[in-house]
Amino acid sequence: MQRKDQAKKILKELTLDEKIGMIHGAQLFQTAGVERLGIPPLKFSDGPMGVRQEFEPDSWATINHTDDYVTYMPCISALAATWNRKLSSDMGNVLGEEFRGRGKDMLLGPGVNIKRSPLCGRNFEYFSEDPYLTKEMAVPYIQGVQNWDVAACVKHFAVNNQETERLWVNVEIDEDVLRKIYLPAFHDAVTEGDVYAVMGAYNKIRDEHCCQSDFLLKDILREEWGFEGVVVSDWGAVHDTEKAANSQLDVEMSVTSDFDDYFMANPLKKKIEAGEISEEVVDQKVLHILELMIRLHMLDGKRKSGAYNTPEHRQKALEIAEESVILLKNEDHTLPLKKEELKKILLVGRNAEEIHSNNGGSAEIKALYEITPLMGLKTHLGGNVQVDYIEGYEKDPKKEESDTNWQETSLENGGGSVKQQQEDEALKEKRAAMRKAAVEKAKEYETVIYIGGLDHDHDSEGNDRPDMKLPYEQDELIKELLEVKPDMPVVLIGGTPVEMGEWIDQAKAVVWGWYAGMEGGNAMAEVLLGEINPSGKLPETFYKTLSDCSAHCIGEFPGTDKVRYAEGIYVGYRYNDKFHIEPQFCFGHGLSYTTFEYSNLALDRTNRAITLCVKNTGDVEGSEIVQVYVHRENEPDIIKELAGFEKVSLKPGEEKQITVNVEIENGFTCRFFVGSSSRDIRLMD
Ligand code: BGC
Repeated sequence: MQRKDQAKKILKELTLDEKIGMIHGAQLFQTAGVERLGIPPLKFSDGPMGVRQEFEPDSWATINHTDDYVTYMPCISALAATWNRKLSSDMGNVLGEEFRGRGKDMLLGPGVNIKRSPLCGRNFEYFSEDPYLTKEMAVPYIQGVQNWDVAACVKHFAVNNQETERLWVNVEIDEDVLRKIYLPAFHDAVTEGDVYAVMGAYNKIRDEHCCQSDFLLKDILREEWGFEGVVVSDWGAVHDTEKAANSQLDVEMSVTSDFDDYFMANPLKKKIEAGEISEEVVDQKVLHILELMIRLHMLDGKRKSGAYNTPEHRQKALEIAEESVILLKNEDHTLPLKKEELKKILLVGRNAEEIHSNNGGSAEIKALYEITPLMGLKTHLGGNVQVDYIEGYEKDPKKEESDTNWQETSLENGGGSVKQQQEDEALKEKRAAMRKAAVEKAKEYETVIYIGGLDHDHDSEGNDRPDMKLPYEQDELIKELLEVKPDMPVVLIGGTPVEMGEWIDQAKAVVWGWYAGMEGGNAMAEVLLGEINPSGKLPETFYKTLSDCSAHCIGEFPGTDKVRYAEGIYVGYRYNDKFHIEPQFCFGHGLSYTTFEYSNLALDRTNRAITLCVKNTGDVEGSEIVQVYVHRENEPDIIKELAGFEKVSLKPGEEKQITVNVEIENGFTCRFFVGSSSRDIRLMD
C-alpha cells in the first residue's frame, strides 16, 4: 500500500485524544504513541555532533546512567572546514547509526543558519557564511543520517542568526535577500536532501513567529518547495493555539513539563470541541507524522537497529578532525615541528587541557572520551619527550545558573549577550601573575606552543559574544610570550573568529582548530608534528575587527525587538569584496605544508563543468581545495560567489586533472575565478 493510503487508513482508527497526543510533547523529548494500535511515540534528540544524554521525561535533570556516553563528532563548523562532501556524508552515517543505536527517531539538526555575525553564540553549530557551501555540506549529512531510518530535522527555519532576544526578535529582511542568502540551504535540504523534518525557529519574521508563519511554512516550505515531511517547533517556540493549529506546524515541543497545557494539547482539544478550530487541521498533522513513521519503518518491524560507540565511528571522528584543522599562517616553515629534535615542550593556554564536549547548550555531548591537545601531543611523542603544561590565564568566574534546568531558564529572558565580567582588581592581578609565570617558564623551553582561543562559555546557545576579542586577556599573554619565544606557534580553538590584530604580525605560525570532537587532540598533534598535512579552509571570513563585518557596520546586530538585515546580500566575503575591505584571513583561506600549481583551465559551459590541472609542487603529500567563484554579468553588484569546489589529494610532484561542477542558472553570462581561496585566484576565464 502506498505510504499516504496507509497513513490515511491508520488515521481513521484514531480518537481525537490520540491524535492530539501525537502532535505535542508528552515528555521533553518525545510525543505520545498509541499503544493499542502499535504506534510508538516519536523520540527526538539533539544534536549535530552526537546523541545527547538522557533526561528525566519531565525535567532537565540528567538520568546519569553509563549507557548514554557516545561518539563525539567534530562540530558543524569543523565539518564545513573540511569542504569534503564525502566526510559530511560519513558524519551523517555515523550519527544516523548512533541515533538508531540509542533508539531515537529524529536528530535535531543540522543547523543551516547562515553565520551573519561572528558574535552569534551558536555559530559553532552552523556551517558557513556562504549559502552554497552550507547546502553542499548539509545535504550529504542529511542523507547519511536518514540512511539509518532516522529523520534529520534541519533547523532553525529561518533567519535565526543570533541568540540575543532569540524568542522575540523580529527579523526585517528583503525577500530577495532571504531567498539568495538565508533560504538556499533549507531549500536544498528539502528538494535534494529529501529531509524528513524541519524545525521552525524561535524568532519572528514579518511580525509573526516562524513556527506560526504562513509565509514560511505554507507559502514557501509546503507549496513552493513541496515539503511533505514533519514540521517540529523549536522547544518553546509556539505562542498561540489557533495560529499554530492553523499553520503548517505539525508538532509542538517545549521546555516545561506542563505537557497537557501546551498550545497544541488541551487548549487545542477544547477549541476543536467548541467548533472554533477544524479537526481536519489536526488530521493533516497526524498524517505527516504517520507518513514519517512509515518512512522510518517504525510500524513494519523492518527498521535498522543501529549501533553506537563503534571503533569505526571513532575513526571517522578522527578523519574529520584531521581535515578540519586550518593552517592560517606559516612563515619560515615554522610548522611542522621537527619531531626528532623535540626534547622538551611547553604548552601554554587552557585549551591544551579543556574539555569542550559537555557544554555549549543543546549541542552538548556526553562524550565517551575527549582527547585534548595535551593528551594528543603526549601520546604522539612518547616518554622520551617532556611535555609540560601551564594555564597562562584564568577564566571568568562562572555565571550563576543551575546546570540542570539551563534550557528551561534560557527561555525566560529570551537569550542575551554574555555580560562583560566586571574585571575586578583581584582577577586582573591574578591574570598578570599567571602571565608572568607562563612567560618565565617559557624561557626554559626550546619549544613552546600556545593553545588558547574560545570555549563554550563564549560559543554557546542562549548568548551572543559581547565582542570579537580573545577573552581572558589572552592577547596580552600571546604578545608577551612571542617576545621571548618568537617561533611559538599560536593554536586557537573556537567556533567563530576572533580578532588577532594585536599580535598577528609578530606570530610566525597560526593554526585554527575547532571543537573537533573526541579525537580533536590527536588531530591537532598530528598536524603540529607533520604527520598530517593540514587541508582545512575557512568556511567564513576572519575579519580584522568587528566593524569590518556588514551586519555590524551596515545592518544591525543584535538589534532590539527588531533587527534589520540592511546589509542585504553583502554577507561575509560578498561584503568584503564589494567594499574592498581587507580581512585578516579571507573566506576559503587555508595553507598547507606543500604548494600547489594550477593550470590548463577549460570551460564546458553546456555541462557547467570546469576542468583544470592541479600539481603538488612541494615535497610532501597534501590535499588542495580548489574553489570556483562566478561573477554573473547581469548581476554586476555581486563581485563573485562560490559556485563549486573540489578537494584533491596529491603525492609530491603528482599532477591531476580535475573537474569542478558549478552551479549557475541558465541564461547567465558568467566569468569564472578559480582559486585556492576567495582572494588567492589562480586562474580565470
Ligand atoms: C534549541 C534547539 C534544540 C532544542 C531541543 C532549543 O533550545 O534551539 O536547537 O534542538 O532546544 O533541545
